Amino acid sequence: MQPVLKKVLERIRPRKPEFEENDRVAKMIIGRLKDEGYEAELVGSRARGTFVSGDRDLDIFFFFPPSAPRNELEKQGLAVGKKVLRDFGAETHYAEHPYVRGMVGKMRVEVVPCYRIKDKIISAVDRSPLHNRFLKKQMKAKQRDDVILLKQFMKAAGTYGADQKTHGFSGYLCELLVLKYGSFEKVIKGAAKWKPGTTIDILKLRSDYSKFAAPLVVIDPVDAERNVAAALNAAGFERFIGAAKRFLKSPSEEFFFPKQKAIDAEGWTKGKNIVLITMTCPEVVEEILWSQLERLASSLERQLRLFDFDVVARRHWTDEKKACAILLELKSLKLTDDKEQMGPLVKDASNYEAFVQKHKEHWVSGGRVHARVKRRYTDASKLIKDTLSSGAVPSHLRPHAKKALVLVNQETLKEKGLLELILGGK
Ligand code: CTP
Ligand code: MG
Repeated sequence: MQPVLKKVLERIRPRKPEFEENDRVAKMIIGRLKDEGYEAELVGSRARGTFVSGDRDLDIFFFFPPSAPRNELEKQGLAVGKKVLRDFGAETHYAEHPYVRGMVGKMRVEVVPCYRIKDKIISAVDRSPLHNRFLKKQMKAKQRDDVILLKQFMKAAGTYGADQKTHGFSGYLCELLVLKYGSFEKVIKGAAKWKPGTTIDILKLRSDYSKFAAPLVVIDPVDAERNVAAALNAAGFERFIGAAKRFLKSPSEEFFFPKQKAIDAEGWTKGKNIVLITMTCPEVVEEILWSQLERLASSLERQLRLFDFDVVARRHWTDEKKACAILLELKSLKLTDDKEQMGPLVKDASNYEAFVQKHKEHWVSGGRVHARVKRRYTDASKLIKDTLSSGAVPSHLRPHAKKALVLVNQETLKEKGLLELILGGK
């Protein structure tokens, strides 16, 4: 192993007290679940010793028989989770179905109900205990270090996490990559050669991959129907490959602990056409918040394009507590009052007649009638404000979007701090 990697490992390999804390908290929660009559098991990276030191997330799954109806698993699963975490600030969260999260000291504990399955998966989370079994069997002890290195590398590159915020690589995906390639260094070498459409099938479970449309396809060894990298988007895929190539050229600790680059909001805004939308934050769990914010940003982009505004870039951001923001860069914030509109073919008599009736000033070119029409919107911020008070806004954001602040160009510097947070992706 390269000396750089050894040095990094010294800083991120979990130490004994962390493992002891694991055991203590897991025992306590599993004990409580047993008292409620459920078998339970520690899964996730804590069960495998593949977590980065300082990460404090414990995943405990408890089991229902496959015969239990789905709504019972959800209802009962939540009730039991809340009871078990009652002294620890129980809070409901959502994966494919709801589960309960609490804080035991500084440890974030997730208590997730799932089916004890034999072969076919019933709910999406049923795979996790199988992942655990598979990895515990297949992974060599020393490969834990490689997984930890890869996770830290991903974090620094901004590609760690399959959540709504990152659209990157999940922890389990990192583990599978180490298994496939053998070590951290080999994963990096492999990734430097990836092209969109790269497919990895460790157990050769399939021969046809056409149903998976994604930049990276990694067949889940416990479920041939699932692409473990489904959450990864093209930007995350490219970003990781870029980081891998640069690391190969000149490896350094900075790839794991990046220096904070100073962001100059003033310089960034110069010469650009930008709109900053800020609003207060609804009280809703973060998965929903991020996905609604992304949906709002994307419908704003769609509206803008519909009315001929060119969107160069867009970002959305929230601190998950007080503020939400969307940043849009446009080619232009204003459009001319009217535009040319193409009408029907002249030989299409009835439509031609209707068109010329409607548009007094018209002309024919290339066999078609044309006219100048007034635009409904000439000002991007007017269109944005109207959209923010319309039904296009996802439910939780609606009351907040109605009162949103819409700033353009130099005005955005009134919110310089916020702008720098968004640009820095913090
Ligand atoms: N899981 C999955 N796909 C995801 C998220 C989670 O398959 N997109 C499963 C995996 O079996 C994973 C478990 O759920 O091991 C727990 O999820 P999580 O805590 O998010 O990941 P960890 O593997 O525990 O990684 P980390 O070190 O980040 O906690
Ligand atoms: Mg975990």
